Amino acid sequence: MAPLPTSTRTLLRLCPHRSLAALSPPLACTSQQRRHKADIVQRTAGEYDKTPAFESPFRSIDQQPTTKIPDFGAYKSRKGETTNRTVQYFMVGSMGVLAAAGAKATVQDFLVNMSASADVLAQAKVEIDLAAIPEGKNVIVKWRGKPVFIRHRTGDEIQEAEDTKWESLRDPQPDSDRVKRPEWLIMVGVCTHLGCVPIGESGDFGGWFCPCHGSHYDISGRARKGPAPLNLEVPEYSFPEDETVVIG
Ligand code: FES
Repeated sequence: MAPLPTSTRTLLRLCPHRSLAALSPPLACTSQQRRHKADIVQRTAGEYDKTPAFESPFRSIDQQPTTKIPDFGAYKSRKGETTNRTVQYFMVGSMGVLAAAGAKATVQDFLVNMSASADVLAQAKVEIDLAAIPEGKNVIVKWRGKPVFIRHRTGDEIQEAEDTKWESLRDPQPDSDRVKRPEWLIMVGVCTHLGCVPIGESGDFGGWFCPCHGSHYDISGRARKGPAPLNLEVPEYSFPEDETVVIG
């Protein structure tokens, strides 16, 4: 570099440093850039050595597939992993508890709605005093919305029911299978044809007659004539005392 003339050197000596920087920005800028470069070199040699280089998916678009997603795993916070998992477990557990409570309430409501009410349960069993029914008479009681026939049979009626050749009947059944005590015949009073209520002490066999389509039942309630396919149904019943029957 050629030496400056004497007049220029004098002028430079007289000017303050700030004024000189303002007059020659390229000189100041060069110095700043130099410092910045030195700083980058120092940091690159130290802390940046461990960080993997960022690969931009757009750097060479001709050589790489455009669907490549950059891996930011190195920048992920390792500190919050345990906390995040705890929150996830808590949320899943809370949702499970809420779902179980909702399901329980739904099922419980459904079962309560479907269960029988108190008045229905009261009708589930009927207790009858048999002492009030004289021999040779019928009584009709209501049980679960259906009529139930109670017949206090005479000795002759019992004999007739037992002597019948039941094997040849359309619904073969001995009289002993239809009664618990021979003098008491208890049956649901619904015709097995189409559901009419037969009339007692009538018909060709001295038992019951259904006027709807002409079915005849004998003194044991067995279908003997007409369209009825089955014998009159015998309900569940018991004798808790000698003169008492409980139906149901
Ligand atoms: S309903 Fe009794 S005979 Fe038809």
